[in-house]
Amino acid sequence: MTAQIIDGKAIALDLRHSVAEKVSQRISQGLRPPGLGVVLVGSDPASNLYVKRKREACDAAGLHTEDHHLPAETTQDELNQLVDRMNEDPNIDGILVQLPLPEHMNPDEILLRIRPDKDVDGFHPYNLGRLTQRHPELRPCTPAGIIHLLDHIGTPYKGQHAVIVGASNIVGRPLSMELLLKGATVTVAHRFTGDLPRFVADADLLIAAAGKPGLVHGEWVKKGATVIDVGINRNEVGKLIGDVEFAPAAERAAWITPVPGGVGPMTIAMLLQNTLEAAERHG
Ligand code: GUN
Repeated sequence: MTAQIIDGKAIALDLRHSVAEKVSQRISQGLRPPGLGVVLVGSDPASNLYVKRKREACDAAGLHTEDHHLPAETTQDELNQLVDRMNEDPNIDGILVQLPLPEHMNPDEILLRIRPDKDVDGFHPYNLGRLTQRHPELRPCTPAGIIHLLDHIGTPYKGQHAVIVGASNIVGRPLSMELLLKGATVTVAHRFTGDLPRFVADADLLIAAAGKPGLVHGEWVKKGATVIDVGINRNEVGKLIGDVEFAPAAERAAWITPVPGGVGPMTIAMLLQNTLEAAERHG
């Protein structure tokens, strides 16, 4: 078997077009465009690139964006004050503070400070709690993007064993709640899981989100499985690779996401979708 490729780039573009259309409908009804405040502290090159891509996507969809690029030595107090200001600003529907923050800052304090109805990353305990209790409001972007891809290829979920490799706050943990909500049987494997190949071999849906290049060997993959690779790593020659060995996994899987062009573009598309949703709730 050779897997069919899940074209995240094309699916994300469709979603971005549909957000753009709804934004222009809002504007033609005399409503303001959805507004996103983006905060980047310091100059981590990867974060810089992610923030630039997010801003470009917002501009292309007609969203209003407000950029705050702060120096690495910004204090927690200063960042708190900025978040407070955007919490009160009626033109701002969503607030995104790019992670990781510099060492001297406490990310949990910031994530708690963002008003839940403006938390377009879906990282606030209120939003994670609503998802856990089966009433999601603003949902974490990468897990929501993965569900969008799985829905797109007609994943049945119920009766399927979903195995997530990686238990991060941003991907693995909230994704386990999303998949449970869909009716899948969910296993989360992590750094203390003893026999990773055994769990991978049983996965109808395999989601690799550990951030470790080539962690999942292609020959472990179950025949006919769906493989979603969230990893974005650079190999020795600077090429982007995922957490899964692509070529041997694609020999066995029915569906697989490429890296790049799989999950990455979906995260940005879901951010736009969340900002639109937040604006619709704000009126
Ligand atoms: N850093 C890595 N991924 C993300 C994300 O989805 N949102 C934010 N705010 N920071 C990140």
